[in-house]
Amino acid sequence: MYSSKVIGLGKYVPERTVPNEELTRYMETSDAWIRERTGIEERHWVEEGDGNTTSTMAAKASKIALERAGLKPKDIDFIVFATLSPEHYFPGSGVLLQEQLGCDTIGALDVRNQCSGFVYATAVADQFIRSGMYKNILVVGSEVQSTGLDLSTRGRGVAVIFGDGAGAMILTRDKDTSRGYLAHSLHSEGKYAMELAVKTPGSSFPSAKLVEFLKENPEDISHYPYMNGNFVFKHAVVRFQEAIVEVLTKAGLSPSEVDLLIPHQANLRISQFVQRQLGLRDDQIFNNIQKYGNTTAASIPIALTEAWEAGRIKEGDIVLQAAFGSGFTWGANLIKW
Ligand code: ACO
Repeated sequence: MYSSKVIGLGKYVPERTVPNEELTRYMETSDAWIRERTGIEERHWVEEGDGNTTSTMAAKASKIALERAGLKPKDIDFIVFATLSPEHYFPGSGVLLQEQLGCDTIGALDVRNQCSGFVYATAVADQFIRSGMYKNILVVGSEVQSTGLDLSTRGRGVAVIFGDGAGAMILTRDKDTSRGYLAHSLHSEGKYAMELAVKTPGSSFPSAKLVEFLKENPEDISHYPYMNGNFVFKHAVVRFQEAIVEVLTKAGLSPSEVDLLIPHQANLRISQFVQRQLGLRDDQIFNNIQKYGNTTAASIPIALTEAWEAGRIKEGDIVLQAAFGSGFTWGANLIKW
């Protein structure tokens, strides 16, 4: 058996910064409301002509991670790409990344688990490495959310939250099994699938009918993200804690032994709630939602990269990744760095 070692991290966000104040030009909202309810101060959004897409941002983050790992694209054996905002319905963004990086004709797997995407992707990559199937795996989370948001007052409950960006992590095979991922937890509850969803387009709505439907219902908004915010919030705080306790229990550890929790950056109030539930000190949790908003599958690798760059993660540290989101899906990964 082998273990997985993190040898490279990288992040990229578009240059355009969108402070809360700018949003007041498009919808009825305020800097005070957004800060108080979400903790967000600004986010980064792509802009027309800047060349940023889900895969190109992923490529920029990946190149940084590759350089830090001392690897070339040809050294990568497999790509796991988590996103809810692929460029196209199909093909997925993973193959676009494989081409842009100039990797060999390696496998590229897209993971469609929204906010929990990176947690799922990490667990998948770890299994491939532990089994000996692959040596070096590139795990990426990248999102362009801004092009799909309803920027009118009607969509404000969702639009103010989301940001664009990408994060990348390179895992490599390690013979030292006393470290690496100690436990994973992956869950879903499809009963609540429609509480946080983009319903169209989709195969359940034939394209020809959709065109007709939109002609007859020009006010239809099923192509914009719908979120039952309060409902999602209440489930998130419970499921976050459950997933974290599950991986800690599997590894025989307690919350006090965690060096750093990287929660999916959904809402600062959710992170603070989870911190209180687990009795974690401020130095045991990392938040950067203030600068980026909720970048869905990219939020954990962006935060992981920033935490590592800031010297908050050291060799031998116990680090937790945890997420909750659309599906509902949720989970956690526990690693001894
Ligand atoms: N600006 C001003 N007012 C607003 C805004 C806004 N941007 N958005 C909503 N409001 C208003 C509402 O209309 C409502 O007004 P009313 O009381 O007159 O009806 C009031 O503010 C309260 O609205 P709520 O929706 O109850 O506000 P809440 O405190 O729940 O915050 C939020 C909303 C931020 C969305 C919160 O519910 C949340 O963070 N939910 C969880 C998000 C999450 O974790 N998502 C999972 C990951 S995302 C993914 O997987 C894709």
